[in-house]
Amino acid sequence: MPHFLQLAPMQALTDIPFMNAYHKHFGGFTEMMAPYIMASSNSPIKTQKLQKHFSQLNKEIILVPQLLSNDAEGFVHFANALFHLGYTKVNWNLGCPYPAVTNKLRGSGLLPFPEKIDSVLNKMVPVLKPELSIKLRLGMQTNHEILPIIEVLNQYPIAETIIHPRTANQLYQGAADVAYFGSIYQKLTMPVIYNGDLLHASQVFELEQNYPGLKGYMIGRGAFINPFITNQINGIEWSEAEKLERYRNFYFDLHLQCQNRSSNSSGFLNHIKELWVLFSKSFQNGEQHFNTLKSINRPNEFLNAAVVIFNTGKLVY
Ligand SMILES: Cc1cc2nc3c(=O)[nH]c(=O)nc-3n(C[C@H](O)[C@H](O)[C@H](O)COP(=O)(O)O)c2cc1C
Repeated sequence: MPHFLQLAPMQALTDIPFMNAYHKHFGGFTEMMAPYIMASSNSPIKTQKLQKHFSQLNKEIILVPQLLSNDAEGFVHFANALFHLGYTKVNWNLGCPYPAVTNKLRGSGLLPFPEKIDSVLNKMVPVLKPELSIKLRLGMQTNHEILPIIEVLNQYPIAETIIHPRTANQLYQGAADVAYFGSIYQKLTMPVIYNGDLLHASQVFELEQNYPGLKGYMIGRGAFINPFITNQINGIEWSEAEKLERYRNFYFDLHLQCQNRSSNSSGFLNHIKELWVLFSKSFQNGEQHFNTLKSINRPNEFLNAAVVIFNTGKLVY
């Protein structure tokens, strides 16, 4: 039985071209979560625009849209519109750690206020059409902020909770607190998904042994740094040559899709360089490769440099 694996939402990185290319060349994600859409009662939903956007996704991919919101009315409005477009599960982002978001009491900004989370859930759950998934961190400042939130979440019919065991203050620095995660996940009564720093299948096997009963695993940066991870978790191993061949086909498919969608070369180069912050870590001497790419200002030159990396580079994973 394949593992339950979710692609993590990553604003500007896990976009439609990435999801389509990953699905085509690697596969293995049970579901993919889209980066957040802001959902507030004073921003009117543009259903047609959303439909057009998501319709570019391969029909085989099971997509879970994600909403960033602190008001029940706005959340329900968007979530029910998404349900009518065919999305049967929607995620509530309680994890975004950036001050521009948290200062407005959205994302992780809600974690110190379990009573506010309770009030939003109390209003939205009775009228929400899709299933509700929650993604959260351990707290804003400290790990144990999650404890009263667990008591709140347990009162509602929530399909799953995804935990990224860092505080918002940590952003993405420092280690994810896997031990603390292990000490609290069984307090949740709904299925739980672990998310954070998964780069290799062996980490998933270790979590599975140490923390039985998890529903599955969400993987973000690992899907870029070790794009073989979903297959490795499901017991498929390729030779070095096969891995490079697959990675090359995936990468150049994505590269061309990104180039075709960009209206100008500087937009394209900025985006592809963001992707290479992570892709470069797939290769030995990745920093050196990244420095070469970073200094390039012409799309053709960039393409040639990427070809050289794939022809000469050695994979880490
Ligand atoms: C550039 C970037 C953008 C992100 N955007 C989102 C987002 O839109 N919604 C969200 O819930 N998490 C977002 N995250 C967090 C990831 O979904 C994930 O929780 C985090 O990267 C930890 O998982 P990983 O170690 O497997 O990457 C983002 C992370 C990064 C690095």
